Amino acid sequence: MITFCEEKQIFKLDTKETTYMMGLVDGEFLGHIYYGKKLRNPGGFYRFRTDEYPMSPKLLPREKLGFFGGFPFEYPTGGVGDYGESCLDILNEMGQSACELHYVSHRIEQGKPSLPGLPASFGLKDEVETLFILMQDEVLKVQVELQYSVFEKEDVITRSVTIHNGSDHTYRLTKAYSACLNVEKEKTELITLHGAWARERHIDRRELFHGKMRVSSNRGETSHQEHAFLGLVTPQTTQSSGEVYGMQLVYSGNFTANAERNMYDIDRLTIGINAETFSWKLSAGESFVTPEAILTYSDQGIGQMSRNFHDFMRSHLIRSPYLHKDRPILINNWEATYFDFDTDKLLSLAREAKKQGIEMLVMDDGWFGKRNFDDNSLGDWVVNEDKIKGGLKYLVDQVNAIGLKFGIWFEPEMVSPDSDLYRAHPDWAIQVKDRSINMARCQYVLDITRKDVRDYIFDSLSAILNSANIEYVKWDMNRSVSSPGSFLLPEDQQGELFHRYTLGLYELLDRLTTAFPNLLLEHCSAGGARFDAGMLYYGPQVWTSDDTDAVERLRIQEGTALLYPLSCMGAHVSKCPNDQVGRRTTMKMRGDVALSGTFGYELDITAMPEEEKAMIPTQIENYHKYHHLIAEGDYYRLHSWDDKEPYDAWMVVSKDKSEALVTYAQVLGRPGYKRILLPLQGLDPAGDYILDGEDAVLKNGEMPEYEGDLLMGAGILIGNSGDFSSKLYHFRRK
Ligand code: GLA
Repeated sequence: MITFCEEKQIFKLDTKETTYMMGLVDGEFLGHIYYGKKLRNPGGFYRFRTDEYPMSPKLLPREKLGFFGGFPFEYPTGGVGDYGESCLDILNEMGQSACELHYVSHRIEQGKPSLPGLPASFGLKDEVETLFILMQDEVLKVQVELQYSVFEKEDVITRSVTIHNGSDHTYRLTKAYSACLNVEKEKTELITLHGAWARERHIDRRELFHGKMRVSSNRGETSHQEHAFLGLVTPQTTQSSGEVYGMQLVYSGNFTANAERNMYDIDRLTIGINAETFSWKLSAGESFVTPEAILTYSDQGIGQMSRNFHDFMRSHLIRSPYLHKDRPILINNWEATYFDFDTDKLLSLAREAKKQGIEMLVMDDGWFGKRNFDDNSLGDWVVNEDKIKGGLKYLVDQVNAIGLKFGIWFEPEMVSPDSDLYRAHPDWAIQVKDRSINMARCQYVLDITRKDVRDYIFDSLSAILNSANIEYVKWDMNRSVSSPGSFLLPEDQQGELFHRYTLGLYELLDRLTTAFPNLLLEHCSAGGARFDAGMLYYGPQVWTSDDTDAVERLRIQEGTALLYPLSCMGAHVSKCPNDQVGRRTTMKMRGDVALSGTFGYELDITAMPEEEKAMIPTQIENYHKYHHLIAEGDYYRLHSWDDKEPYDAWMVVSKDKSEALVTYAQVLGRPGYKRILLPLQGLDPAGDYILDGEDAVLKNGEMPEYEGDLLMGAGILIGNSGDFSSKLYHFRRK
């Protein structure tokens, strides 16, 4: 619920468990008062007062700068005396930077409008309410509308900003962030995600010191390296207790997320498009809309933040018709064959896969142009009939006749220098005049800020998708953007390239999903370099990492699940020893770990050891038994493995608490330890549960029974087992 208390000049935004408050000082300046546990009434205006200064520049005009220096602006602007990180910087027609926003008006609406050209959350009129606060800089004649949408049930508030140039001049935006949050706590710690190729989204946590700390991307994609997310906690916060603020961005390009502790120990979190690589010409009468930021708060620990984000994305962000469906269990030929395949090989994979219960064959990279290696043909989306003998339709028909669906890989945003496309249109590659383009994986990036390039991509993909019964697409992107120049953008708009690239991508994805509404779309970027909330608006799943080793996946999937529902994480059982790290793990552990994602296979099923192959039907049975729980349930992180306690554990609990699945993965054996007791979470303490999973210990044919409070208080008993062993425990209420 959103209210404005005229008398106190306070906006109060309430969700089920939280309250967010802002106040108007002098009827002009919008400041942040509070975000935290739900409060009864609007109040707390004293938050704006300091010892030195009264809370109003009207009362002490000679010290307006002092007021600006200490005021917790909701949307701080540059150049006028707030020396913290600003959210908005505008250059006027003389190239000078200053902007001071004053409140003009506000309105409250049921529901939530979409954001033009950008992915954004949505909700019905009775699910979400939106507050629009109009601010203005009278000198620039710029209007800034702050948008706050309140998702009561999920304890989420989303924000975005529209900047309108109401003057006769042309201005330049050099920064336009999406949100700012000022938090005042004695000591805080920052949680971020970092990584590299094959090591995405590992969790970092450290004290927030004075000064600025930031994570960002300037690669044209969200990146393997850093993530558009900040978690702010107190030192006492654990998985299941304590305060946590979470902030993330619905955006797939260059972002920045900044945390700053100022001289008064006030933390300012800001998030938005990365200003380092952004400059936007805002002509008279034009508007600029920022991406959306998602905020949540809980005093129930980090796990609750994750559950809020998961619920929110499942209900209000992911649009795919597959969201609440079991995904077809696929086998992907990448790690099975790499580029070395043909129709016969694919059909042999399909036949064997069908026997084991697999439901879809995905043909990965190497089916087009003359591509037998990664140094050619990107952009030439024409079937290579030397490999795909008989053509694509023949292959797909055969696969369908075997009883499998068919999926295909594309890398639409790219072009190989050795391609017909590049030879015909060298100017279509992103590049800076007179400089050679730095290659990565022997490829260039297409300038999808251009409509002609987007049309070419859309037409090429459509032609392939219309030529056969293709039900799934893996949309890949295997290099970052560099040399950010476009041959079509005018010189005073070259600084717009990165954002326009992301907008171009969204336009393409929108066209594709509109033209092929039943397509199952899996995003990918050299593994998981574009795993973000923006992409999930278009496709329900993202390939989490090129590292398919079950042990490496524990940390990668844990970090990913910090923000994203398990049903979004592309996860496959791959061969042993693993291609990326050479580790030998058990087939059981590979299956159990992949089960907590979309689930599928990525190996040569015709050449794998028989005893491993024999386990596939049970793994598939588990998927069908448990996927609804994994996809729709509440996720609890129970234990993260480390050197001293080398096991990992998590669980999912159905919303009605009638069912739970615990996954336990022992990375290394623990010599001398007889067993562990693992306390569970999220069960009904008053409920009685029966353990009936494949790893249930059955005594005299009886199903073991446990009380919910005992399972959570004392824990379940797990016998010591060897390296790379894993267990699945399924509980159902009696
Ligand atoms: C990327 C993907 C892989 C595979 C290859 C193909 O690395 O992450 O899964 O599709 O490209 O070139």
